[in-house]
Amino acid sequence: MLLKTIEEWKKVQKEHNHKTVGFVPTMGNLHAGHVSLLRRSVAENDITVMSCYINPTQFNNQDDFDHYPKTLADDACIAKDAGVDYVFVPNDCEMYPDHYRFRVCENKVSQHLEGKHRPGHFEGMMTVVLKLLLLIRADRAYFGEKDYQQLQLVRDMVDAFFIDTTIVACPTVRNKFALPLSSRNRRLTDSQMRIAEHFPALFHSDSSCEEITAALREKGFIVEYVEEFEGRRFAAVRLDDVRLIDNLEIMGGE
Ligand code: PAJ
Repeated sequence: MLLKTIEEWKKVQKEHNHKTVGFVPTMGNLHAGHVSLLRRSVAENDITVMSCYINPTQFNNQDDFDHYPKTLADDACIAKDAGVDYVFVPNDCEMYPDHYRFRVCENKVSQHLEGKHRPGHFEGMMTVVLKLLLLIRADRAYFGEKDYQQLQLVRDMVDAFFIDTTIVACPTVRNKFALPLSSRNRRLTDSQMRIAEHFPALFHSDSSCEEITAALREKGFIVEYVEEFEGRRFAAVRLDDVRLIDNLEIMGGE
């Protein structure tokens, strides 16, 4: 069932007073990566709520925001097939009655890697996730390891603000070339996709970050960063304006 307003959600919430609630926040344009989160939530909770909201405050690039695919009808079908009970689709007025006067800042994890290359991104992401978590008040909320810094920040934020929702980490779903599935992959042309297919093999190799950077550049990628931090390796590359990210555990093995 589609819920467009907070008021509609509050009514539904009252009806499900004693049930466990699983929550999967998304920006829509669902693929198998999102579906893995949805299915896990459906398996682990009495009801599952998915939000579908393209959060303007987390886009540091207007063009990226303008081109973000809007596929609500398809998303609603995919969610229903996965067993989702409610799809929450708020608009900007619902989510930002304060016009983004209040925001969540963090001064460590959000300052490097993605945070350094996408100024303001994590501030917008944390602010909307905090609002959504406070609205839905789920028992569990599901996040993908594909966006590892996001996952880490959400976990830390939930601890910092005493939010009574368990954050569940879900493994990255990849295509047959081991490229992490992403809504942005759909913007790759065929020839770009043939280059993109090299990203996983190079990134997951035993070479150093410098060697990986050089090999990626040789294949035609614009490399934003390849860095290791606290037992993980992270990378962001671009093909024209399409950004691809990945991360993997380097200590203890993945
Ligand atoms: P979105 O990019 O739509 O992703 C929604 C969730 O799906 C995130 O937790 C993300 O990590 C997860 N996800 C995306 N691709 C995945 C893949 N290939 N494998 C596993 N999980 C994957 O992330 C956001 O939206 C937004 O920042 C949001 C949290 C909704 C706040 O606006």
